[in-house]
Amino acid sequence: MLGATGYAGGELLRLLAGHSVLEPVFLGARAGEGREVADVHPHLAGAYASRRFDPLDGGLPEEARLAFLALPSGEAAKLVPSLLEQVEHVVDLSADFRLRDPEDYPRWYGFSHPAPTLLASAVYGLPELAGRALAGARLVAVPGCYATAAALALAPLVASGLVERSGIVVDAASGVSGAGREAKVESLYGSVAEDFRAYGLLRHRHTPEMQQTIGAELLFTPHLAPMSRGILATCYARAVPGCTTETVAGELSRVYDDSRFVAVSAQPPSTKATAGTNMALLDGMVDERTGWAVVLSALDNLGKGAAGQALQCANLVLGLPEETGLTCVGVAP
Ligand SMILES: NC(=O)c1ccc[n+]([C@@H]2O[C@H](COP(=O)([O-])OP(=O)(O)OC[C@H]3O[C@@H](n4cnc5c(N)ncnc54)[C@H](OP(=O)(O)O)[C@@H]3O)[C@@H](O)[C@H]2O)c1
Repeated sequence: MLGATGYAGGELLRLLAGHSVLEPVFLGARAGEGREVADVHPHLAGAYASRRFDPLDGGLPEEARLAFLALPSGEAAKLVPSLLEQVEHVVDLSADFRLRDPEDYPRWYGFSHPAPTLLASAVYGLPELAGRALAGARLVAVPGCYATAAALALAPLVASGLVERSGIVVDAASGVSGAGREAKVESLYGSVAEDFRAYGLLRHRHTPEMQQTIGAELLFTPHLAPMSRGILATCYARAVPGCTTETVAGELSRVYDDSRFVAVSAQPPSTKATAGTNMALLDGMVDERTGWAVVLSALDNLGKGAAGQALQCANLVLGLPEETGLTCVGVAP
């Protein structure tokens, strides 16, 4: 794993501690190189004892078969071409291989893609919609947290023609861990506690990813919520004539009927119910008064929104049962 000191890397280490097949043989870090795992991630002390982080540029051990990358966007793409020569599979949690059009990177991410020829071959790792494409994939682009929440809610409705392809709105709120563990003024307790605000208006980087996956133009407004984990997305689309709550709920239930990690119910989901799990909880309805379809989608940004989904993808890539090492049961209260 590269980026093992971060929030997503730490969550992946937590999940791998309970995985019956995969074992982390390399814990690459930049500034954290040489530090003990339990020093950076105290909650992992019981699983990784006195294990230390490896230098990011130290080279992977020979037994490494699959590399997870939990590095900032822009950094992962620089390393992936050489990693593909060293391991059989790369599962990248950054945004670097999610978008098909290389021109979207300077436009939305502010850098020219260093390996544009790999974009076409990367498999977008949303298992519930990817079909069998993940089996044996060499390079997997794990979806963004907001994009996962929105795509699970809207993609089936757009694909089935139950809602219009334009005028779609996604309003979503995330916990602070979505911004990573690097110290930032906006993430300080004094900035976040007892506050609720929108950010990234009209230009959030997950917008093109959502549009590409959902197959429709949309407006996305993210918000920062005073909680450590969780995303709640409220997605609005114009229902076509005759589309009712029963139709929407029925289509979501049909699409996710066999899914281990997406649950559709008739009650509004909450983020707390997803904490620490790989679950996404959906509730869809149509307001017959205004003609809007509304789908609520809740997940843990570090679970189904990042590390959980990355592990689900890796399991499918390697031909393992997709739930290996993953839990669908949360904690309460
Ligand atoms: N947080 C989420 O909810 C979430 C959800 C979905 C996807 N993601 C994606 O997952 C990736 C990791 O996110 P995160 O939240 O875990 O970030 P993070 O907490 O800031 O961790 C970043 C990791 O990358 C390393 N790193 C930082 N800058 C680097 C650089 N310039 N070169 C090489 N390594 C560098 C850090 O190492 P040191 O600490 O040792 O310097 C750390 O291990 C990002 O691409 C993010 O977009 C995150």
